[in-house]
Amino acid sequence: MWRYLDLLPVPPGVKPITMGEGLTPLVELRNIGRTLGLENLYIKLESTNPTGSFKDRGVSLAVTLANYYRCRRYIVASTGNTAASAAAYTARVDGRCIVVLPRGGVAGGKLLQAVLHGAIVVEVEGSFDDALQIVVRAAEEELVYPLNSFNPVRLEGQKTISYELWEQLGREPDWVVVPVGNAGNISAIGKGFRELRDIGFIDEVPKLVGVQAAGASPIATAWRMGEKKLPVITKPRTIASAIRIARPINWFKAWREVEESGGSFVEVDDESIISAQLELARREGIGVEPASAAALAGLKKVVESGVIDRRDVVVVVATGHSLKDPSVQEIAEEKTTRVVLEGKSIDVLLDSLVEIH
Ligand code: F0G
Repeated sequence: MWRYLDLLPVPPGVKPITMGEGLTPLVELRNIGRTLGLENLYIKLESTNPTGSFKDRGVSLAVTLANYYRCRRYIVASTGNTAASAAAYTARVDGRCIVVLPRGGVAGGKLLQAVLHGAIVVEVEGSFDDALQIVVRAAEEELVYPLNSFNPVRLEGQKTISYELWEQLGREPDWVVVPVGNAGNISAIGKGFRELRDIGFIDEVPKLVGVQAAGASPIATAWRMGEKKLPVITKPRTIASAIRIARPINWFKAWREVEESGGSFVEVDDESIISAQLELARREGIGVEPASAAALAGLKKVVESGVIDRRDVVVVVATGHSLKDPSVQEIAEEKTTRVVLEGKSIDVLLDSLVEIH
């Protein structure tokens, strides 16, 4: 049930491998918007996709085409979400899916999804970047179909986020804020809006803000230095494991999209990521994983710089669901009021309720 089939590279008569991905909710962030002085702040809940992240859009399309060409073996390097998505969609076509993961670098919920859907798990002593090298090599040998975002079909699927934003808002946003790891998604979103402009549906593309986690921020660092050359990061570090990437394969495309849009790249530290994650959860009821919360933390930085007008339409992309990644649990528990009912006495609970404001 695709809505944008005409703008996707799908030959007529191809059977889509779909689980209803896309058409995700666009939800207003009234409370946080008020605090930031933004009258039109929204969040795009990509976490409601079938496997809980935006990856399903691109993986659905890529598996659809590969399956059409009778491909049986798939491979993907991942910080977790693409592995979860690839494992699920390839299961629908009875394919074999190899997921190459940085050992110890994937959140529990995502690893669960990969093994639940029956992927073959290869663990690498190293980072995501090392895992991706293996996939690039395997793809060169033409033994397996690569589902990473250097495969342009992935990005074609992901650009549908832009079409939906235009449709849901009835206009283009002024700003779209996206967390950046391998830099595929922001490139895809930029392309989607450029196409809408070239078709004549919108006059201007939104300004794109790419947010990286400090400790894994090669593009944001290069942007800040004004140098179109990525610094070498030997060991990327951040709580946001989904975007713990040192050498983003799509960085050049992403740079071009952001530059042409008039936007920017920014970096945010782990503390601000965690506080944004808690704020979204506690003030808006929206549970996202740390990488997604980075986008809100980045937006705050841009708001502080004063370039956003309070009437601008601003969209933050919530890329993945909170259930995937429990790394914030301890911190959230520290900030939680807990009552132990001794002797199961309801009086104890009622007494403590009096003290809760
Ligand atoms: N947010 C989440 C939740 C992600 O999982 C990713 C990437 C991103 C943002 C960044 O998107 O790479 O297109 O810039 N996850 C990949 C993975 C790397 O393997 O699941 P990007």
